[in-house]
Amino acid sequence: MRHLAGAVSVITVGRGATRTGFTATSVSSLSADSPSIIVSLNTSSSSWPAVQRHRSFCVNILAEDQQGTADNFAGRGGIKGLDRYQDAEWREFATGASGLVGALTVLDCVLEEAITRHSHSILIGSVQAVAIRPEAKPLLYWHGAYRHLSDRTA
Ligand SMILES: Cc1cc2nc3c(=O)[nH]c(=O)nc-3n(C[C@H](O)[C@H](O)[C@H](O)COP(=O)(O)O)c2cc1C
Repeated sequence: MRHLAGAVSVITVGRGATRTGFTATSVSSLSADSPSIIVSLNTSSSSWPAVQRHRSFCVNILAEDQQGTADNFAGRGGIKGLDRYQDAEWREFATGASGLVGALTVLDCVLEEAITRHSHSILIGSVQAVAIRPEAKPLLYWHGAYRHLSDRTA
């Protein structure tokens, strides 16, 4: 899967001081009608009990200038929970989850279903609201490193 280039998202869960979340590349569109997405979450992650409790989350698709936030939510340096929200600006969306100001796109989701298979749970999120940062470029991940989009084919 190192060969599969992907966009980088931060999934935010919970409210206030109990917030946590994780960095994810396993994010995909499920359907446009009705708007829904899929996120694959390791059930050993601290975010899994929070998702079960709150039954909502924001998918923050990162812009190329937000790599620091990706590192924080991947738990780099042992950073946990609310501390992962440092160094960035957030706003609360209707579900109560936090949307990242300046993200390429924020999808505010209600958990429709969680299907646990093997080490992960497939979260189906029903999209309640969308916020977009026009003309920003995505942060990508490929072969174990963050990348930037550099070109456009003819
Ligand atoms: C680029 C990247 C992509 C990741 N994608 C996923 C993912 O799709 N699903 C997942 O559960 N964890 C993924 N992780 C790992 C989580 O971000 C990390 O395990 C989590 O934040 C730490 O869990 P903790 O809250 O238990 O400390 C990814 C990490 C990185 C650096």
